Order: sequence, then C-alpha cells, then structure tokens
Amino acid sequence: MEIKKNDYFDIDIIDIGINGEGIGKINNFTVFVDGALPNEKVNIKIIKVKKNYGYGKLINIINPSPFRQKPICEHFGKCGGCNLLHLSYDEQLNVKSSFIQSNLKKIAKIENIIVPKAIGMDKPFHYRNKASFPISFTDKINIGFYKPRSHNIINIDNCAIQHPINNIVIEKTREFIKDSNISIYDENTGKGDLRHIVTRIGNKTNELLICVVINNDKFLYKDLLIEKFKDIPNLYSIVINYNTNNNNVILGSKTETILGKGYITDYIKDLKFNISPLSFYQVNPVQTEVLYKTALDFCNLTGNEIVFDAYCGIGTISLFLAKNCKKVYGIEIVPDAIKNAISNAKLNNIDNAEFFVGKSEEVIPKLIFEENICPDVVVVDPPRKGCDTALLDAIGKTSIKKLVYVSCDNATLARDINYLSNFGFNLKKIQPVDMFCMTTHIECVALITR
Ligand SMILES: C[S@@+](CC[C@H](N)C(=O)[O-])C[C@H]1O[C@@H](n2cnc3c(N)ncnc32)[C@H](O)[C@@H]1O
Repeated sequence: MEIKKNDYFDIDIIDIGINGEGIGKINNFTVFVDGALPNEKVNIKIIKVKKNYGYGKLINIINPSPFRQKPICEHFGKCGGCNLLHLSYDEQLNVKSSFIQSNLKKIAKIENIIVPKAIGMDKPFHYRNKASFPISFTDKINIGFYKPRSHNIINIDNCAIQHPINNIVIEKTREFIKDSNISIYDENTGKGDLRHIVTRIGNKTNELLICVVINNDKFLYKDLLIEKFKDIPNLYSIVINYNTNNNNVILGSKTETILGKGYITDYIKDLKFNISPLSFYQVNPVQTEVLYKTALDFCNLTGNEIVFDAYCGIGTISLFLAKNCKKVYGIEIVPDAIKNAISNAKLNNIDNAEFFVGKSEEVIPKLIFEENICPDVVVVDPPRKGCDTALLDAIGKTSIKKLVYVSCDNATLARDINYLSNFGFNLKKIQPVDMFCMTTHIECVALITR
C-alpha cells in the first residue's frame, strides 16, 4: 500500500519513543505520532513520509490508554520541556525502565537482567532547582522554553516542573528589559545583548541565585538590574555571565558577581555544599538523595577502600563516599567545580578526599600507572556522552573488580557496559531513579563487576 502525505489512517499504537511519541505500524511502515500512547487506537493524518517511516498528526483518540491523564499544563505539546504529562506518573516509571531494558538488550546484548521499576517521587511536580530560560524578541519579548525540534520560544508564566519562584523572576526580567531597553540576543545574527536567565535555588536553604547571560564583554545596567530584582523573595545573589560565543552553549566561562556571594549553599542529607553558577549540580534535589544512596549501597563499602569518583562535579558523591571508605580521589574537568569540591570537603570537615582538575580519561590513567594508586571501587557519573574509551581501557587493564556507573543516558551506559565486557566485566544489577519526572529522561545506577 502506498502511504502519502495527508492520508488518514486508524492505527494501533504499540510502543513509545524516547521523545514520548507514540509508535504504530501501517503494515511494515512505522509511524511516529506525537501525543499518542501505547495500547491506544488513534486516527492520524500523515504529515511527513520518509522511505521506511513517517510522521502522523494525532486527529482523534478512538480507544484511549487506561494510563492517559489530562496534562496539567496548558503548554503541553507546544513546549519542548515535559513530554510525558499525558501519561500517569506510575506508568511513566514503568515506561522509563522499559527504555533501559530495551537498550541493554539492543546495545549491550544483555537479556538476563530485569530492570526494576524506576524509583519515583511522592510529589513529582515543581521539583527542579535549576532553570535556564532563553530570551528572544519577535513582535514581543519572549522568555520561556523552546518548542519541540525548534528554536522558537514559547512564553512561560507557570511551569509544572520548575520552582514557582521562577514566575516572579520572569516577570521582573520583563520589567527590566522594558525599563533598560537592553537589546535582545538574536541567534541568527549573533547580535543583541541579553541571552538567557538562569536560576538556581537551594532546596533546603531556599537561597536563590539569578544569573543573567550577556552577549557582550560589559554590562551597563547593573544598578537597574539589582533595583528590579532586589524584592524577589529569597534572592541571595546575582551574577552576570559573559558569553559572546555564537553557539548553543548557555554559559560562557567568565562570571561577575554583582550582588551577594556569587554562589548558593545547599544540603544533601547532612552534607553542606557551596555551588557556583558554572558547576554541575543535580537538578532534582529530593531524588539526588535517593540516587546517591543507591550508588553508595551498590559500592557496599567497609571503610577500608580506596575509591575513585570520576566526573565528580562539586564533590557531592565523593564526600558521601569519603564518610564510608579510607580515601576518595575525585576527578572533574571544570576548575570552578573542583574549587567548590575542595571547599566543600573543608566545610564538612572531611580530610580523606583529594580532588584533581582534568579529564577523567587523562588523570585516572596517570593515578593508576604513574602514581601506582589502584582503587578498590571506581564510581563514574559522566555526562550524556558516557565514558571515554581511554578511561574504560585504563580500568580494564587493572585488577579493579567493581565499577558503580551513575548514568543519565542509558544508551551510552549500554555501549560502555558492552565495551567493558571485553575486560571481563558484567552488569550485576541496575536501578533506575526518576530525576526528571514528566519527561522521558531517566537516571540509573549500575553495578558492574568481574
Ligand atoms: C553528570 S555530571 C555529574 C557530577 C557529579 N557526580 C554530581 O552528581 O553532581 C558530569 C560531570 O562531568 C564533568 N565532565 C565532563 N567531561 C569530563 C571529563 N572528560 N572528565 C572529567 N569530568 C568531566 C562535567 O563538568 C560534570 O560536572
């Protein structure tokens, strides 16, 4: 059967894709349908046809899924933020585990490990402690999030997963733009000054840091900005980040503090952390405690071990490990994060943690082969692209028996497990933790041993 643009079909949705889209078949032709859910019968209109697959627009739901729910956000479907708001939270946890199961099978060829249901939140809304709002000017000022698969901004005045304080920050930013008449960055031309507003809020301390990202090497409106923002509840610090690169990276390397200390403080369990704007910090503070507890349980430390914490950020996992082992070596590429990690160790009176700035794949081989430090356990928590093979090769060439892998991208996790199998490592167990409720992203902790 020939499938053409603008044709209508009734199809069964049999699966869900990594962007939350429903997946159905017309004979052997695969169709992706935004907004449709598995086990639904839907009427669709074909909007794009490729050789073996196409895209359909959801016209009507003939038989809804029992797990379908009314999205609580008016921007659902138009904003690229949450793509699972139409699925019950409990079922989201099952779907996310199934993504991991499928990648373990496809990429790592593992079929004998059952991925348990993701550990979810009791209250899965307004959980994020960090927001980055791009700003543009069309016929009006736009502050919000990008539309899916586009760089057009949807204006947001209330978000289901962000901290409510952001609504006030956005409102005050609009007032600042109007009163200052500052030019707005245009990513097509690379011209205009104001690019992004980034906020961070301490979960336990409520300290709010606002970072204003400027496409210039100077910022002329410091006093007006402070005047506009000063009454925002819990405002603790304002920093200006200078980013003149014409690319998608939000923050440049230079920041200037114009109010307060230039960082916030927060607690994870009983440990205290200073967090500067350029440093990575987990975005879901409630689930971070669950994630770290899972990682620590998987390490099963007795108190005598040497542990490497690769990709350590501001030393959060390192300091939890340090309380349970003999010595921790933390390795991280961002110098500001390592400055935080060193001061965080002091802040918590921890003296058995040592930190190094550099690439894990360069520092760890040096520690092992030049300094002769061979750890009992290695913890890795890389960005989405996973671990560099130079790091996995170094681990593979030692007698290390235990690796605890914290992953925010299970496709690269599966790739790395597959690579490590060349050195006799096997996946022993895995536990997903839902850090990104209402979205298809999922974090997990894997215990890999030999
Ligand atoms: C997912 S974060 C984890 C941070 C920390 N473990 C935590 O839980 O907050 C990954 C970290 O790896 C750092 N990073 C990226 N590439 C790196 C590399 N090649 N070597 C060391 N650190 C790297 C990033 O700057 C970031 O802080």
